[in-house]
Amino acid sequence: MSTPVIGLSGSPNTSSRSRALLELTLAALERQGTGPSRLIDLAKLPSDGLLGRRKDSDVAEAIQSVLDAGIVVVSTPIYRATYSGLLKVFFDLLPQDALTRKVAIPIATGGGSGHLLAVDHGLRPLLASVGALVVATGVYGTDAQFRAGVPEPALVERIERAALEAASLAAGVAA
Ligand SMILES: Cc1cc2nc3c(=O)[nH]c(=O)nc-3n(C[C@H](O)[C@H](O)[C@H](O)COP(=O)(O)O)c2cc1C
Repeated sequence: MSTPVIGLSGSPNTSSRSRALLELTLAALERQGTGPSRLIDLAKLPSDGLLGRRKDSDVAEAIQSVLDAGIVVVSTPIYRATYSGLLKVFFDLLPQDALTRKVAIPIATGGGSGHLLAVDHGLRPLLASVGALVVATGVYGTDAQFRAGVPEPALVERIERAALEAASLAAGVAA
């Protein structure tokens, strides 16, 4: 059975670098033979629902899509040395075991290489806190690694590696 894939973009930017890496990862996963993928821009969800001020059907539907997925790809800009607040508020709405038996790929972009370890010290623990099996290869790009929104080949190679790991792990989980 094919594994549904969900991509979560935690950037509010319309021309987002981290989102571009997310899109490439979803395409790489499709080439690995995973199931249909869907990308959710968290910034487009109603803020009252995201902040838990009221129940919101769009937010509930986004949470259900995460629960229904087998692979969850998360992308974020680095803000103040870690993932965006937008990503955090969404994760705060997830049930405790939301990503149990699911494979996750962490992706981040930052202004420079100084916060490279935010993938390992920020995103990995975030994903593990809801039970995800996180691939060994995290993806981190700096702004200088993009030309006109296109990432350099070294970044694309890491994406391919992360996608291969995720597809292999997801096949093992499903077996
Ligand atoms: C509010 C804010 C805080 C930021 N903080 C950091 C930071 O702590 N470290 C860093 O490397 N880049 C920082 N940046 C730069 C962004 O992480 C970087 O430009 C990133 O590639 C933007 O991703 P996006 O295009 O997907 O939104 C910050 C940018 C903003 C707007």
